[in-house]
Amino acid sequence: MQQLRVPDIGDYKNIPVIEVLIQAGDVVDVEQSLITLESDKATMDVPSTSAGTIREVLLKPGDVVSMGSVIAHIDFADAAVPPAAAPAVEVKRAIEDTSAEIASRSDLKLQMSLAEANAATATLAASSQSTAAAVQPDPVAHTGPERSINVAAGPSVRKLARELGVALADVKPGGCNGRVLREDVLAHVKTMLATPSPTVVPAAAGSGGLDLLPWPEVDFSKFGPIERTPLPRIKRISGANLHRNWVRIPHVTNFDEADITDLEALRVTLNREAREGTAKVTLLAFLIKACVSALQRFPQFNVSLDGQDVVQKRYFHMGFAADTPNGLVVPVIRDADLKGVAVIAAEMAELAHTARAGKLGAAQMQGGSMSISSLGGIGGTHFTPIINAPEVAILGVGKAATKPVWNGSAFEPRLILPLSLSWDHRALDGAEAGRFLAYLATLLADFRRVLL
Ligand code: COA
Repeated sequence: MQQLRVPDIGDYKNIPVIEVLIQAGDVVDVEQSLITLESDKATMDVPSTSAGTIREVLLKPGDVVSMGSVIAHIDFADAAVPPAAAPAVEVKRAIEDTSAEIASRSDLKLQMSLAEANAATATLAASSQSTAAAVQPDPVAHTGPERSINVAAGPSVRKLARELGVALADVKPGGCNGRVLREDVLAHVKTMLATPSPTVVPAAAGSGGLDLLPWPEVDFSKFGPIERTPLPRIKRISGANLHRNWVRIPHVTNFDEADITDLEALRVTLNREAREGTAKVTLLAFLIKACVSALQRFPQFNVSLDGQDVVQKRYFHMGFAADTPNGLVVPVIRDADLKGVAVIAAEMAELAHTARAGKLGAAQMQGGSMSISSLGGIGGTHFTPIINAPEVAILGVGKAATKPVWNGSAFEPRLILPLSLSWDHRALDGAEAGRFLAYLATLLADFRRVLL
């Protein structure tokens, strides 16, 4: 009987054992993970230097170890075969490496055959797709394999979960402090296999499901100092909505430009002449008014899709994206067709202020006909905004710039505004979008047309 010891792990001393992967009676192979250590920099598995039968395990989670600490007593499998040289250099390097790399070096003897594992992966993937389709997702909850990052588990357990397509967050932890152990992952897979999956259609059979790679699990701290903070609540909610809209709506974006030289001159004059205490008239307020006119000319943009039905809206409520310290929100100006540009500007300023104070109510962000996202006050030309479902179009506005424009006999300096229109190709066609945008540009070039 011999001792298995912790090999040379460099200057590291008194490192806590967070998981013991063996027990008395286990038959282990060379390189099989025995224990998992967790330093302040990385989590690492210590592999066995010999093959044989474990007679006694001398460590438990919470113990601390340094080089030379005895892990277990082992009977060698073949007395004629001397124990392999301690992989001191390897473990030392492993500590400085990523936990992912360490995990890939671990020899994972799965408790099931490869065929079983593959079957488990396919079944789990398919059942998670059908569950996702059946269950209304919580927009705030994290979904997908990225949830596994915050779960406590050693590298070998993570690797096993990855290979089996299991999200660690779904596994009931059996270890201390909520740590997921190898047995927990295997028990989870067995339970999932025993649970009949409703209407499972493999992705390969043309179900239309997204057969994506798992989200990469990266230990960013190996590249340099990092800080980890939760996403602000608004970003979590808007992110989930944007992700759904981006994936489920067939977006197309058209680009155009509008000559706003005269409009900007009017805006500057109005603001110069404005009574004290009145809100500044902004370009965005003109854009909202012009969009309402374009919606009246092209009502097919003022709709929402509801199953196989098209819901035609007879109201004109306009959303506008507002940047707040906690993320993007889209307040809605109600009945913009009944309001003048000055009133719209005042309401926008009030709504943007309320949004930035984090006091916008849900009702103030609902019921839009279409939305405008303006980055004009910040910079940039064209971009591809994501449609704010259940609306079917969104206008992106870039920063106006003075450009030389040919007037038939000479180049003239004109103030040109970049416009981007993203639209839902299920509800609209390219020709309609082209006409909508061209009409909008005409209105902005000569705002008197809005009165017609
Ligand atoms: N081109 C050139 N200048 C523009 C412009 C444009 N398209 N739009 C605005 N400006 C100028 C304004 O004239 C103003 O200048 P002034 O002070 O000399 O009059 C300045 O930029 C700032 O405009 P601002 O007061 O911010 O008004 P706004 O109507 O442009 O924007 C909000 C109001 C609420 C929309 C804006 O503050 C905001 O949050 N924008 C970000 C929206 C966003 O994040 N969209 C991306 C979603 S993915």
